Amino acid sequence: MNIKIAPSLLAADFSDLAREVKKVESGGCDLIHFDIMDGHFVPNITMGPLVVAALRDKTDIPFDVHLMIENPGKYIDPFIKAGANIITVHVETCRGFTYIIDHIKRQGIRAGLALNPGTSLTEIESYLDRVDFYLLMMVNPGFGGQEFMPDVLPKISSLRQLCLNRGLEVDIEVDGGITRETAPRVVKEGANVLVAGSAIFNSPDPSAEVTKIRQAAEKQEGKL
Ligand code: DX5
Ligand code: ZN
Repeated sequence: MNIKIAPSLLAADFSDLAREVKKVESGGCDLIHFDIMDGHFVPNITMGPLVVAALRDKTDIPFDVHLMIENPGKYIDPFIKAGANIITVHVETCRGFTYIIDHIKRQGIRAGLALNPGTSLTEIESYLDRVDFYLLMMVNPGFGGQEFMPDVLPKISSLRQLCLNRGLEVDIEVDGGITRETAPRVVKEGANVLVAGSAIFNSPDPSAEVTKIRQAAEKQEGKL
Protein backbone atom coordinates (compact mmCIF):
# COMPACT_ATOMS: atom_id res chain seq x y z
CA MET A 1 0.00 0.00 0.00
CA ASN A 2 1.48 3.35 -0.87
CA ILE A 3 1.98 5.94 1.83
CA LYS A 4 -0.33 8.96 1.71
CA ILE A 5 0.08 12.11 3.81
CA ALA A 6 -3.07 14.02 4.83
CA PRO A 7 -2.37 17.32 6.62
CA SER A 8 -5.23 18.24 8.98
CA LEU A 9 -6.33 21.87 8.67
CA LEU A 10 -7.45 21.83 12.32
CA ALA A 11 -3.91 22.95 13.24
CA ALA A 12 -3.60 25.44 10.37
CA ASP A 13 -3.89 29.25 10.52
CA PHE A 14 -7.66 29.74 10.17
CA SER A 15 -7.17 33.37 9.19
CA ASP A 16 -5.75 32.24 5.83
CA LEU A 17 -6.60 28.62 5.04
CA ALA A 18 -5.98 29.05 1.30
CA ARG A 19 -2.36 29.99 2.03
CA GLU A 20 -2.05 27.02 4.43
CA VAL A 21 -3.38 24.64 1.76
CA LYS A 22 -0.80 25.97 -0.73
CA LYS A 23 2.00 25.33 1.78
CA VAL A 24 1.20 21.63 2.19
CA GLU A 25 0.36 21.26 -1.49
CA SER A 26 3.89 22.47 -2.30
CA GLY A 27 5.14 19.80 0.11
CA GLY A 28 3.48 17.14 -2.02
CA CYS A 29 0.66 16.07 0.33
CA ASP A 30 -1.81 13.53 -1.06
CA LEU A 31 -5.00 14.67 0.72
CA ILE A 32 -6.28 17.66 2.66
CA HIS A 33 -7.94 16.49 5.91
CA PHE A 34 -10.92 18.51 7.19
CA ASP A 35 -11.94 17.87 10.81
CA ILE A 36 -15.65 18.62 11.01
CA MET A 37 -16.88 18.91 14.61
CA ASP A 38 -20.36 19.84 15.86
CA GLY A 39 -19.82 20.25 19.62
CA HIS A 40 -22.05 17.23 20.30
CA PHE A 41 -20.12 14.09 19.33
CA VAL A 42 -16.93 15.88 20.39
CA PRO A 43 -16.53 18.88 22.76
CA ASN A 44 -15.39 21.24 20.01
CA ILE A 45 -16.89 23.11 17.04
CA THR A 46 -14.78 23.71 13.92
CA MET A 47 -16.10 24.08 10.39
CA GLY A 48 -18.83 23.04 7.95
CA PRO A 49 -19.49 22.65 4.20
CA LEU A 50 -18.93 26.40 3.62
CA VAL A 51 -15.23 26.10 4.48
CA VAL A 52 -14.81 23.03 2.26
CA ALA A 53 -16.52 24.88 -0.60
CA ALA A 54 -14.40 28.01 -0.04
CA LEU A 55 -11.22 25.99 -0.56
CA ARG A 56 -12.42 23.75 -3.37
CA ASP A 57 -11.21 25.93 -6.24
CA LYS A 58 -7.88 26.66 -4.51
CA THR A 59 -6.42 23.19 -5.13
CA ASP A 60 -7.01 19.94 -7.00
CA ILE A 61 -5.85 17.83 -4.06
CA PRO A 62 -8.58 15.43 -2.89
CA PHE A 63 -10.52 16.59 0.19
CA ASP A 64 -10.68 14.04 3.00
CA VAL A 65 -13.64 15.06 5.19
CA HIS A 66 -13.71 13.53 8.67
CA LEU A 67 -17.22 13.90 10.18
CA MET A 68 -17.08 14.01 13.97
CA ILE A 69 -20.74 14.95 14.18
CA GLU A 70 -24.01 13.43 15.39
CA ASN A 71 -26.43 12.31 12.67
CA PRO A 72 -23.84 12.48 9.85
CA GLY A 73 -26.33 11.06 7.32
CA LYS A 74 -28.04 14.45 7.28
CA TYR A 75 -24.89 16.21 6.03
CA ILE A 76 -23.44 13.83 3.42
CA ASP A 77 -24.96 15.64 0.45
CA PRO A 78 -23.95 19.19 1.55
CA PHE A 79 -20.33 18.04 1.96
CA ILE A 80 -20.36 16.30 -1.41
CA LYS A 81 -21.80 19.47 -3.00
CA ALA A 82 -19.04 21.47 -1.24
CA GLY A 83 -16.38 19.35 -2.91
CA ALA A 84 -15.52 16.42 -0.61
CA ASN A 85 -13.81 13.50 -2.38
CA ILE A 86 -13.72 11.24 0.67
CA ILE A 87 -16.19 11.23 3.56
CA THR A 88 -15.57 9.40 6.81
CA VAL A 89 -18.26 8.82 9.41
CA HIS A 90 -17.76 7.53 12.93
CA VAL A 91 -19.25 4.13 13.69
CA GLU A 92 -20.14 5.55 17.11
CA THR A 93 -22.49 8.11 15.53
CA CYS A 94 -24.42 5.87 13.14
CA ARG A 95 -26.90 3.21 14.06
CA GLY A 96 -27.26 2.17 10.39
CA PHE A 97 -23.82 3.02 9.03
CA THR A 98 -24.19 0.63 6.06
CA TYR A 99 -26.99 2.83 4.70
CA ILE A 100 -24.80 5.93 5.01
CA ILE A 101 -21.75 4.20 3.53
CA ASP A 102 -23.82 2.94 0.57
CA HIS A 103 -25.30 6.43 0.08
CA ILE A 104 -21.81 8.01 -0.05
CA LYS A 105 -20.58 5.38 -2.52
CA ARG A 106 -23.62 5.81 -4.76
CA GLN A 107 -22.54 9.43 -5.23
CA GLY A 108 -19.13 8.23 -6.45
CA ILE A 109 -17.37 9.40 -3.29
CA ARG A 110 -14.97 7.21 -1.26
CA ALA A 111 -16.63 6.13 1.99
CA GLY A 112 -14.65 5.69 5.18
CA LEU A 113 -15.54 4.39 8.60
CA ALA A 114 -13.80 5.86 11.65
CA LEU A 115 -13.35 4.19 15.04
CA ASN A 116 -12.43 5.87 18.31
CA PRO A 117 -9.58 4.36 20.33
CA GLY A 118 -12.02 2.56 22.63
CA THR A 119 -14.23 1.11 19.88
CA SER A 120 -13.63 -2.55 19.07
CA LEU A 121 -13.10 -3.91 15.56
CA THR A 122 -15.97 -6.32 16.24
CA GLU A 123 -18.28 -3.36 15.49
CA ILE A 124 -17.24 -3.41 11.83
CA GLU A 125 -15.79 -6.80 10.98
CA SER A 126 -18.94 -8.04 9.28
CA TYR A 127 -18.99 -5.02 6.97
CA LEU A 128 -15.36 -4.99 5.92
CA ASP A 129 -16.07 -5.41 2.20
CA ARG A 130 -18.60 -2.56 2.05
CA VAL A 131 -16.30 0.22 3.21
CA ASP A 132 -13.63 1.80 1.00
CA PHE A 133 -11.22 2.49 3.85
CA TYR A 134 -10.90 2.77 7.62
CA LEU A 135 -9.80 5.61 9.89
CA LEU A 136 -8.41 4.55 13.26
CA MET A 137 -8.22 7.33 15.84
CA MET A 138 -4.94 7.32 17.76
CA VAL A 139 -6.35 9.97 20.14
CA ASN A 140 -9.82 10.67 21.47
CA PRO A 141 -11.36 12.99 18.86
CA GLY A 142 -11.96 16.68 19.40
CA PHE A 143 -8.63 18.44 19.44
CA GLY A 144 -5.28 18.53 17.69
CA GLY A 145 -1.96 18.31 19.49
CA GLN A 146 -2.96 15.44 21.80
CA GLU A 147 -0.67 12.65 23.01
CA PHE A 148 -0.44 9.62 20.67
CA MET A 149 -2.00 6.50 22.30
CA PRO A 150 0.40 3.57 21.65
CA ASP A 151 -2.02 1.03 23.10
CA VAL A 152 -4.12 1.48 19.94
CA LEU A 153 -1.23 0.19 17.75
CA PRO A 154 -2.30 -3.50 17.89
CA LYS A 155 -5.69 -2.48 16.52
CA ILE A 156 -4.01 -1.35 13.28
CA SER A 157 -2.33 -4.72 12.72
CA SER A 158 -5.52 -6.59 13.67
CA LEU A 159 -7.53 -4.58 11.14
CA ARG A 160 -4.88 -5.03 8.45
CA GLN A 161 -4.92 -8.81 9.12
CA LEU A 162 -8.74 -8.95 9.02
CA CYS A 163 -8.65 -7.22 5.61
CA LEU A 164 -5.83 -9.44 4.29
CA ASN A 165 -7.75 -12.57 5.39
CA ARG A 166 -10.61 -11.38 3.19
CA GLY A 167 -8.32 -10.37 0.32
CA LEU A 168 -9.18 -6.70 0.83
CA GLU A 169 -6.53 -4.11 -0.11
CA VAL A 170 -7.99 -1.14 1.80
CA ASP A 171 -6.36 2.04 2.99
CA ILE A 172 -5.99 2.25 6.74
CA GLU A 173 -5.82 5.89 7.79
CA VAL A 174 -4.56 6.86 11.25
CA ASP A 175 -5.32 10.16 12.88
CA GLY A 176 -4.02 11.88 15.98
CA GLY A 177 -0.50 12.40 17.29
CA ILE A 178 1.19 11.47 13.99
CA THR A 179 4.73 12.87 13.76
CA ARG A 180 8.06 11.86 12.21
CA GLU A 181 8.55 9.71 15.32
CA THR A 182 5.15 7.96 15.42
CA ALA A 183 4.78 7.61 11.63
CA PRO A 184 7.09 4.55 11.39
CA ARG A 185 5.32 2.92 14.35
CA VAL A 186 1.88 3.06 12.68
CA VAL A 187 3.25 2.02 9.26
CA LYS A 188 4.94 -0.98 10.88
CA GLU A 189 1.47 -2.11 12.07
CA GLY A 190 -0.08 -1.70 8.62
CA ALA A 191 -1.34 1.90 8.34
CA ASN A 192 -0.66 3.71 5.07
CA VAL A 193 -2.60 7.00 5.22
CA LEU A 194 -1.25 9.38 7.84
CA VAL A 195 -3.20 12.40 9.10
CA ALA A 196 -1.01 15.00 10.76
CA GLY A 197 -2.12 18.41 12.01
CA SER A 198 0.11 20.00 14.62
CA ALA A 199 3.26 18.13 13.52
CA ILE A 200 2.93 19.84 10.14
CA PHE A 201 1.35 23.24 10.77
CA ASN A 202 3.22 23.96 14.02
CA SER A 203 6.54 23.20 12.36
CA PRO A 204 8.76 26.03 11.05
CA ASP A 205 8.30 24.69 7.49
CA PRO A 206 5.01 22.80 6.91
CA SER A 207 5.92 22.04 3.32
CA ALA A 208 9.20 20.37 4.33
CA GLU A 209 7.50 18.57 7.24
CA VAL A 210 5.14 16.79 4.85
CA THR A 211 8.21 15.35 3.12
CA LYS A 212 9.92 14.45 6.41
CA ILE A 213 6.90 12.53 7.69
CA ARG A 214 6.60 10.76 4.34
CA GLN A 215 10.28 9.82 4.38
CA ALA A 216 10.02 8.48 7.94
CA ALA A 217 6.99 6.40 6.92
CA GLU A 218 8.48 5.13 3.64
CA LYS A 219 11.75 4.22 5.34
CA GLN A 220 9.76 1.97 7.68
CA GLU A 221 7.66 0.59 4.81
CA GLY A 222 10.84 -0.29 2.98
CA LYS A 223 11.74 -2.55 5.91
CA LEU A 224 8.43 -4.46 5.77
C1 DX5 B 1 -8.84 15.07 16.17
C2 DX5 B 1 -8.75 15.14 14.66
C3 DX5 B 1 -7.36 14.92 14.15
C4 DX5 B 1 -6.41 15.96 14.66
C5 DX5 B 1 -5.01 15.54 14.38
O1 DX5 B 1 -10.17 14.92 16.55
O2 DX5 B 1 -9.56 14.15 14.08
O3 DX5 B 1 -7.36 14.95 12.72
O4 DX5 B 1 -6.66 17.18 14.03
O5 DX5 B 1 -4.23 16.51 14.96
P1 DX5 B 1 -2.75 16.22 15.47
O6 DX5 B 1 -2.04 15.69 14.25
O7 DX5 B 1 -2.29 17.56 15.90
O8 DX5 B 1 -2.85 15.21 16.56
ZN1 ZN C 1 -9.36 13.93 11.74
